Amino acid sequence: MTTPTLYLFCAAAPPIHYVAEAIENAQARGWTVCLGLTPTAATWMEDHLAGLEALTGHRVRSTYRMPEDTISWPAPDVICFAPITTNSLNAWALGLTPSWPVGVVVEAVGKGTPVVAMPCMNQALAAHPQVDRSVAVLREMGVAVLYGEGGWVPNPPGQGRPAEYPWHLAVDAADRFVPQL
Ligand SMILES: Cc1cc2nc3c(=O)[nH]c(=O)nc-3n(C[C@H](O)[C@H](O)[C@H](O)COP(=O)(O)O)c2cc1C
Repeated sequence: MTTPTLYLFCAAAPPIHYVAEAIENAQARGWTVCLGLTPTAATWMEDHLAGLEALTGHRVRSTYRMPEDTISWPAPDVICFAPITTNSLNAWALGLTPSWPVGVVVEAVGKGTPVVAMPCMNQALAAHPQVDRSVAVLREMGVAVLYGEGGWVPNPPGQGRPAEYPWHLAVDAADRFVPQL
């Protein structure tokens, strides 16, 4: 029996240092996990990429492939972008494709792939009016944006607790798209 495939995409926010726990949680629920990082996130994690590839069994992807390169990952059943930064969230909602993971989710809804997004941002970033607009646009498109009650609640600046980022809520939302989980 093949297991469903979760693309877990992460942008450059501090919870990324705990991504291995999130991967193990998803794998324990029956997911095959492929990890994608924004280029900035990949830089933050450069000392851990080999270990994350060993954990997932797949190459960690962060940049656009060359046109002649083949794609080694299985097709996704669900894409989960968590943590997503203010930068990547706003770019996605505006239809911009500045990084490979954002480019993938910009196309995903049009392809019919279910997508979950859970931001990580403080109250100062969240106060920018584009953030609420972006959340509204993405929800209108059908993306499950876990923001506010039941998802990410912005913290006061300087009071982030990255070890407590609620990855399980994002994986719960992904599970709901796959009946056998
Ligand atoms: C230590 C540190 C913590 C950061 N935390 C956040 C964060 O929680 N949320 C956020 O939106 N941006 C955060 N940023 C800023 C992003 O890393 C920055 O906007 C980056 O360009 C995002 O790129 P990406 O969306 O391609 O990953 C942080 C930056 C640093 C250096």
